[in-house]
Amino acid sequence: MTNKQKNLYNKTKWDFKNISNYFDEHISKSFIRYNDLQNEIGKLSQWFINTNSIIYNFGCSTCETEIHLLKNNSCKMEINAIDNNKSMLDVGKKKLNKYMRKNVKINFINKNVEKVNIKKNSLSISVLLTPFLNISQRKQFFKNVYKNLLINGAFILVEKNFSPSGKIENIFAQIIDEYKSQSLSFKSIYIKKKLLRGVMNSYYEKDTIEYLKSIGFQDTQVFFNHFSFTGYLCIK
Ligand SMILES: C[S@@+](CC[C@H](N)C(=O)[O-])C[C@H]1O[C@@H](n2cnc3c(N)ncnc32)[C@H](O)[C@@H]1O
Repeated sequence: MTNKQKNLYNKTKWDFKNISNYFDEHISKSFIRYNDLQNEIGKLSQWFINTNSIIYNFGCSTCETEIHLLKNNSCKMEINAIDNNKSMLDVGKKKLNKYMRKNVKINFINKNVEKVNIKKNSLSISVLLTPFLNISQRKQFFKNVYKNLLINGAFILVEKNFSPSGKIENIFAQIIDEYKSQSLSFKSIYIKKKLLRGVMNSYYEKDTIEYLKSIGFQDTQVFFNHFSFTGYLCIK
C-alpha cells in the first residue's frame, strides 16, 4: 500500500481526517459524474443568488461547490463554507484564492453542522454530507435548514440512495465498483466499504421527498440522478 492509500484506509472506521490533500482526486474516482453535478449546482444557484445573498454550503470539504458558485454568479454575496475538518477548509481556501473577488465574502467555519448558527439565507447546499449524519441528526439538520431559508430560497441536497429494487441495487453497485476499479484496486474498494459500515447511510428517494415536503418545502424535485447518487432541489 502506498502512503497515500495508508492515509485513506488505515483507519478503524471511515472519517475524513488526513485525506484533504487527496480528497478531490478520491471523490472524482469514486463518483462517476461528480464534475457534472458541481456544474449543475453552479447553474441552479443562479436562480437563488442575488445581490447581497447569503449562502451556506454544509460539509463543503475542499470548496469545489464554492468555485462553481463564484463562476456562475458575479454579484455581491456572502458564502459560508462549513466543515468540521479544518484541513479540508485549508485546502479549500487555497483553491479559492484564484477565484476570489472584492465583492465576495467567504466565511470558513470549522464546526459541526449541528453547532452552526444559521443566518437567514437564500441558498443552502449539502452535497454528500447527510450520509455521514445519523438519522436523527439528519432530520434535525433538514428542519434547521428549512427554518433559516428565506421564502423562495432553495435547499440543494445530494445524497446516496437505495434503489427500491434489490435487483437494480445489485446492478448499480457492480457498475459503481467497476468504475472505481479503473483507478483503485478492488482491495481498497473493499476496505473502504468495510470502513463505511455503520458510518454512511443511504435512504429511499421516496421517503426523502416525503420528509422534505412534510417539513414545509413547497417544491421538491430531483434534478440529478446517476445510479445511486441523487440531487434534490427544494424550494421554500
Ligand atoms: C463526502 S464529503 C462532502 C463533499 C463535498 N460537499 C463536495 O461537494 O465535494 C463530507 C464532508 O462533510 C464533512 N462532515 C462530516 N460530518 C460533518 C458534520 N457533522 N459537520 C460538519 N462537517 C461534517 C467531512 O469532513 C467531509 O469534508
